[in-house]
Amino acid sequence: MNAPKRNILATSALPYANGRIHLGHIVEHVQSDIWVRAMRMAGHTVHYVCADDAHGSSIMLRAELEGITPHALIARVWNEHTADLRDFGVEYDHYSTTDSDANRELTARIWNALKAGGHTESRPVKQFYDPVKAMFLPDRFIKGECPNCHSKDQYGDACEVCGKTYNPTDLINPYSVVSGAAPIEKESLHFFVKLADFEAMLKDWLTERRGAGGLQGEVVNKLQEWFTDGLRSWDVSRDAPYFGFEIPGEPGKYFYVWVDAPVGYLATFREYCDAHNAKHPDCPIRFADFVEREDAAKSGTEMVHFIGKDIVYFHTLFWPAMLHGAGLRAPTAVNVHGFLTVDGAKMSKSRGTFVNARTYLDHLDADWLRYYFATLLGPTLTDLDLDLKGFEERVNSHLVGKWVNIASRCAGFVHKFFGGKLADALPAADRERYDAAAQKLCACSSLYEARDYAAAVRLIIEIADEANAYVADKAPWLLAKDETKRAELDVVCTLALNYFRLLSIWLSPVVPTIARRARKFLGEDWTRFDAAATPILGAHLNAFTPLTTRIDPKYIEAMIEASKESLKSANEASVGAAPAATTPFIESIAPGAAIAAPAKALGSPPAATISIDDFAKLDLRIGKVLACEFVDGSDKLLRFELDAGDLGTRQIFSGIRAAYGEPERLVGRHVVFIANLAPRKMRFGLSEGMILSAGGGGADLFLLDADTGVRAGMAVK
Ligand code: 2FM
Ligand code: ZN
Repeated sequence: MNAPKRNILATSALPYANGRIHLGHIVEHVQSDIWVRAMRMAGHTVHYVCADDAHGSSIMLRAELEGITPHALIARVWNEHTADLRDFGVEYDHYSTTDSDANRELTARIWNALKAGGHTESRPVKQFYDPVKAMFLPDRFIKGECPNCHSKDQYGDACEVCGKTYNPTDLINPYSVVSGAAPIEKESLHFFVKLADFEAMLKDWLTERRGAGGLQGEVVNKLQEWFTDGLRSWDVSRDAPYFGFEIPGEPGKYFYVWVDAPVGYLATFREYCDAHNAKHPDCPIRFADFVEREDAAKSGTEMVHFIGKDIVYFHTLFWPAMLHGAGLRAPTAVNVHGFLTVDGAKMSKSRGTFVNARTYLDHLDADWLRYYFATLLGPTLTDLDLDLKGFEERVNSHLVGKWVNIASRCAGFVHKFFGGKLADALPAADRERYDAAAQKLCACSSLYEARDYAAAVRLIIEIADEANAYVADKAPWLLAKDETKRAELDVVCTLALNYFRLLSIWLSPVVPTIARRARKFLGEDWTRFDAAATPILGAHLNAFTPLTTRIDPKYIEAMIEASKESLKSANEASVGAAPAATTPFIESIAPGAAIAAPAKALGSPPAATISIDDFAKLDLRIGKVLACEFVDGSDKLLRFELDAGDLGTRQIFSGIRAAYGEPERLVGRHVVFIANLAPRKMRFGLSEGMILSAGGGGADLFLLDADTGVRAGMAVK
């Protein structure tokens, strides 16, 4: 606890401004928030910032889908994100947006410096272009087969299976996620950062930081593999239409979102420094000390990032290279965590395990999840599983059963018999007991610092077990019945409540809200771990109110149900809100949506009335069946290949196998299909629309027909 005082800028990855914060994000924000709180309690200075990552095609397309401007979208999402994080107890000193003047300036400064240093180049690039949507396709909106490991349906920038990064043009059999169309190649001038110029610097930085504990061994090993192929120049420009910063002096060319996103860490900090310094000119925070290479080296400040394992490449190659090329400091640490699974599986919208932060908060307390995540978080990249039953049991057993109960068992006696005042002294043996426990818990400081929260919490719970054994052995509820044992009762309650206080101090980075209630009860306002060294004796307690309650499993169930509901309403909303464009977000499509239209049974009541405008949103077309076949592994589906006229060919999976047992007989006929339904990725391939049929389902389904003379691609109105 007497380590030299450190001066740190800490960040979490900037959430995209195109959707809600979900529990996957919360893992990271809670991880960094616990770290920051613990470092401050250990006496270090930490400036803690984050922002929304507000640029890029996803945000532009999402705004278009919602019929609002990108600025309106990012303003709304900023409000949602900041409220969600605040209510999870994540306390940034400043939460900004990458769409800020400060960021525009700093990005331009870095770019100009790279250019002046000869680290940039430009050349024409053939890039995928969506002929239906009339835009160049961002890497994330093209999918296809990985050129390295041949996994299907991989994004255009990196393979999620083998981790390889590549250019989208390297993909095998690509398709546009925006319209489903096969992209065409089109040439335009692009700008690059010459990463190879920084190879030596990056290698030194990786080795040095690994040695200093700023980079995890497994991260460095992975990065070193990438060096073996040599570092290719990084394409940092995108063509209009794009939502972002135009590259200075290059009209129609924009910085790729991953250029100005990490710069957003520094721009956010700049805003924070400016605001702080205006208020406190007597104790300014010097931005340059954290950012300029020489000032940072002199002042010994640190820059510590918390990120997920999917964005390691950006933070450990591109980002340090950009900083170095612009004369700025490199990160001191990039702390990488694993992914979140729920009940042992990837978060799933249909199972209700893709839980938004707000949905969680509507049902359960933030500190409960913070605690549970802390019991899982270690310094490695291991994935974390939110086992819902385990969550309930651990919170109930540890937080309520082992910690809060110590106070609830003893507080009443102190108020009833001792006027709410703790004993003025402890007998030597009891004091020794306290000191030993306090001494043991000092180890938590370095465990928090090393991000081994699981180990810190294990130690805290060990001491909680010791405290509970003490209380059980002394049985204050029996002592209270015997008037001659008041002095003993006084000592037992005083030591037990000091145990409770000790545990509260060490748990406070993890469960700040419950810890605040504990402080209020104890009538204290500790801010440092040091407070744990001395017990409070003779102190007056405030009235005890329950600090937290047990989790009732019905609230967990309700949260899962509500997550399923929010998926349903999101889909309804996206049908209602979309202009005649497809939703670009594959993951927002309801499972099964593109398989077959939900046929209404005979005699079902009419659906709610819609306006002609609602109907006009559907792009119904005629398709001519080019091929139709059974699908291996499915007893419901037929695979259609349709000639869709101007729209090209479309593959659609339709759940009508029971009604059409001889698929080859459908070849040549015309069908009606929805052309602007978002494509849906299925186990068997991509489904690019929905073929309409009448009837109640199963064998009772009938394809719609069109009169002779109809042609493929004709609109149906
Ligand atoms: O992966 C993401 O969610 C990005 N928005 C993270 C950006 S972190 C930083 F570089 F800005
Ligand atoms: Zn791959």
